[in-house]
Amino acid sequence: MTATLTRAPQRVGPLADRLNGILTNRGIDPAAAAEEPEHEPVTALELADARIPARYRCALADHSQITAWAGQIARAGRPGPGGPGIAEGPSLLIAGPTGTGKTYQAYGAVRALLSRGVRLRWEATTSADLHARLRPRAGHDGERDLQALARCPLLLLDDLGAAKTSEWTEELTYRLINHRYEHMLPTLITTNLPTAELRTALGDRVASRLAEMTERVILTGPDRRRTAQAV
Ligand SMILES: Nc1ncnc2c1ncn2[C@@H]1O[C@H](COP(=O)(O)OP(=O)(O)OP(=O)(O)O)[C@@H](O)[C@H]1O
Ligand SMILES: [Mg+2]
Repeated sequence: MTATLTRAPQRVGPLADRLNGILTNRGIDPAAAAEEPEHEPVTALELADARIPARYRCALADHSQITAWAGQIARAGRPGPGGPGIAEGPSLLIAGPTGTGKTYQAYGAVRALLSRGVRLRWEATTSADLHARLRPRAGHDGERDLQALARCPLLLLDDLGAAKTSEWTEELTYRLINHRYEHMLPTLITTNLPTAELRTALGDRVASRLAEMTERVILTGPDRRRTAQAV
């Protein structure tokens, strides 16, 4: 099933900006399209693609464990008026050396869910960006941001363990993972660290929760960035 959006005659706001961007990329004048509802519908997948970094916008999860996970999550979806919504479920820990396609597979998994018509509110961040974003600073409510990421129905946490750690970052990671662990919220985590090093880098409380809540996907092979261009 593919979710579609009904166009309002006038589109304003961030969602509308994205929609207008998609229409413009298709060579359609957004103003004209608003008056001509016969244009082909813009799918939820296309809207999501506008949020995905350009490099991974066409990512197709082709790893068997990842397609199986997406299928399981989609089948467990909560029924809703706009299609099934994402429910509680298992998480994935995608591990492997640099350039083996971890982030590609993770965005591919998000796209797989959307293409199956799952109504999905999702967020993505690298752990380094997470630390930068939540660092205490005047006029910014980091706690609210942390809660939003912790409660988001699907979270992609990229490059876990890659950023420099401190007591503060360990506590932050613990609170984020612990909330998702307790509420069984599907989380896609990627890491360069081998399993044995996760515990040292993230602390035992986080590593223990990850061991229970995630299925591990190990990617192997050469650095695809280098093999593609023979650098
Ligand atoms: N299955 C695939 N098919 C085609 N291209 C791929 C595939 N997997 C990865 N790539 C491409 O290979 C490059 C490296 O992939 P990606 O960024 O996902 O690696 P990574 O494992 O996340 O690396 P890092 O550990 O540095 O974060 C990207 O350009 C990506 O688009
Ligand atoms: Mg990556």
